[in-house]
Amino acid sequence: MVLLYKGVHRDIEFLTDLDEHLPPIMMDREQIKRVFVNLFDNAIQAMNGKGRLWVTTRYAARDGKVVIEVADEGAGIQSGDQENLFLPYFSKKKTGTGLGLAIVHRIISDHNGRIRAANHVPKGAVFTIELPA
Ligand SMILES: Nc1ncnc2c1ncn2[C@@H]1O[C@H](COP(=O)(O)OP(=O)(O)OP(=O)(O)O)[C@@H](O)[C@H]1O
Ligand SMILES: [Mg+2]
Repeated sequence: MVLLYKGVHRDIEFLTDLDEHLPPIMMDREQIKRVFVNLFDNAIQAMNGKGRLWVTTRYAARDGKVVIEVADEGAGIQSGDQENLFLPYFSKKKTGTGLGLAIVHRIISDHNGRIRAANHVPKGAVFTIELPA
């Protein structure tokens, strides 16, 4: 996924920190792809096509969870928007459907996981996904 995007988005610097000892996750490949496509597209749009995008995965063995983070250094999430981000048709883009994050939320819920959004320090947004290992 990251390699695919790297080829297309030359002005986006992908920085990955992937846990090499991830336990297997029961997950539909096509659906997990949709999750990343939506999160990456949002991150790239929030940075107007230029900036750094971080992808990290780690295994929280104690909780039996895999934690995935997608972070950017774009505009960040405005206060008040946080609770609406995952609602269908919530969009601040001229041509957005507002379905991207609703679909992401749905897929993660279907896999008994959780997703939350926060601001990234010093700027940008970070989406954190937790999935049962
Ligand atoms: N990485 C991000 N940084 C800042 N704001 C974001 C980010 N990701 C999502 N948002 C905000 O959440 C809104 C909803 O995102 P969502 O992906 O559901 O819809 P969209 O991107 O507007 O439309 P579509 O996904 O159909 O292109 C966005 O319009 C944007 O305001
Ligand atoms: Mg989107």
